[in-house]
Amino acid sequence: MHTATGYQHYFVGLDAQVPLLDGSRRVYINFDNAASTPALKAVQRAVNEFLVFYSSVHRGTGFKSQLSTHAYEESRRIVMEFLGANPKEHTCIFGKNTTEAINKLARRFPFTDQRNVVLISGMEHHSNDLPWRSAAHTIHTALTPDGRLDIDDLRAKLETYRSQVALVAITGASNVTGNLNPIHQIAEWAHAAGAQIAVDCAQLAPHRKVDMGTLDDPAHLDFVTISAHKMYAPFGTGALVGRRDIFERGDPDLTGGGTVEIVTLEDVVWSGPPDRDEAGSPNTIGAVALAAAIRQLQSIGMQQVAEHEAELTHYALQALTAVPGIQIYGQTDPESASQRLGVIPLKIKGISHFLIAAVLGYEFGIGVRSGCFCAHPYILHLLGLNHDESRQVRAQMLSGDKSNMPGLIRASFGLYNTVEEIDALVEALLRIANGQYGGRYHQNIASGEYSPEGWAPAFDQYFQL
Ligand SMILES: Cc1ncc(COP(=O)(O)O)c(C=O)c1O
Repeated sequence: MHTATGYQHYFVGLDAQVPLLDGSRRVYINFDNAASTPALKAVQRAVNEFLVFYSSVHRGTGFKSQLSTHAYEESRRIVMEFLGANPKEHTCIFGKNTTEAINKLARRFPFTDQRNVVLISGMEHHSNDLPWRSAAHTIHTALTPDGRLDIDDLRAKLETYRSQVALVAITGASNVTGNLNPIHQIAEWAHAAGAQIAVDCAQLAPHRKVDMGTLDDPAHLDFVTISAHKMYAPFGTGALVGRRDIFERGDPDLTGGGTVEIVTLEDVVWSGPPDRDEAGSPNTIGAVALAAAIRQLQSIGMQQVAEHEAELTHYALQALTAVPGIQIYGQTDPESASQRLGVIPLKIKGISHFLIAAVLGYEFGIGVRSGCFCAHPYILHLLGLNHDESRQVRAQMLSGDKSNMPGLIRASFGLYNTVEEIDALVEALLRIANGQYGGRYHQNIASGEYSPEGWAPAFDQYFQL
């Protein structure tokens, strides 16, 4: 079995000790990578070196401005190359994150009266669902009981709405189950129906090679969105990479400095892409950080990344079965590990997901996530709640009581995680399942979260502004 070896030394802060409820300290274990990842040292280094020369971009005339502009545009090129985009056909628009990128696409996509349907799956993160609901007529495709895409339903809906579907918007990988979707196959079907495809790669891009391809390939991807903070570059950047022709037309969704060629009192001539869609001063540091992370991932090799994470997932799916009362959702077969991401949703019978997450954090120094992971419809589907049960839960939550909020624990792996860390998680879950934890926990009814008596960490000892 592959051990820690290779990858930990690439990252910042993995040896940081954190306080536990009993007063001791322990090296933190982060299994919340599907939310945000720690920084690569290469990113820290690049940001530090760049800060020395950091200055205004695009319109500055001094050397530092020229260098900053060069670094910003070079970062754009690196992002496009990483995603297999074609600079003649695609553009890269930097923004805050995937959520912002999808919102922009939803506002900028040229829906028509004839083609105004967006087909999305039932496993989408809210960020690849709600923006479409505001922009177009959104139709959700069905899922299998174990939470995979129901391909037959997707094809049937594409056929039913054939002349109306403008866009298929689908995640490359689920942030709840780690399921991978056959995006290039779906792209072929979407294109054959006269539609385009937008792939939410927030989860996919940090773990697998993404290849957008050229527009003459029926399997190409028209739009891809990513978030740098999930790719070991947490400096507030994301990107929307997509068809130039779409962004050559129409008014920008945000207007202001940087978006124009000429402004008179009477009219405005917008710039071409990507400037038209990057209103205001950009986050140059964020772009540089993302490019540095990409360079590091490329030098490690996305194949190596995938293989290491598949080993962790294989190991975890086997080891976790030792925990009494555990139920793992989505694909549970360890042999499926290379066909999915290392995102494992689970619960332990009879113990609130909120409590499990709290004990893991306060007593074992292990960070996971609990709840619905911004994918409420998908979680309700996985948990098998029927319509009446969902309504009851909804009513209780809306009355201000989240104590019974349905949800799961999610352990999600990054490149730097190790089997030893998975052993620590399994050991901790065994203890929790057997009631062997020390704290006296109280639940906050409004949030559902648990906290232990006597917890008063001195944050100032760890970080001060
Ligand atoms: C699949 C997926 N899409 C979109 C998002 C939104 O990403 P961000 O919060 O960086 O905008 C997330 C975040 O968890 C995600 O997992």
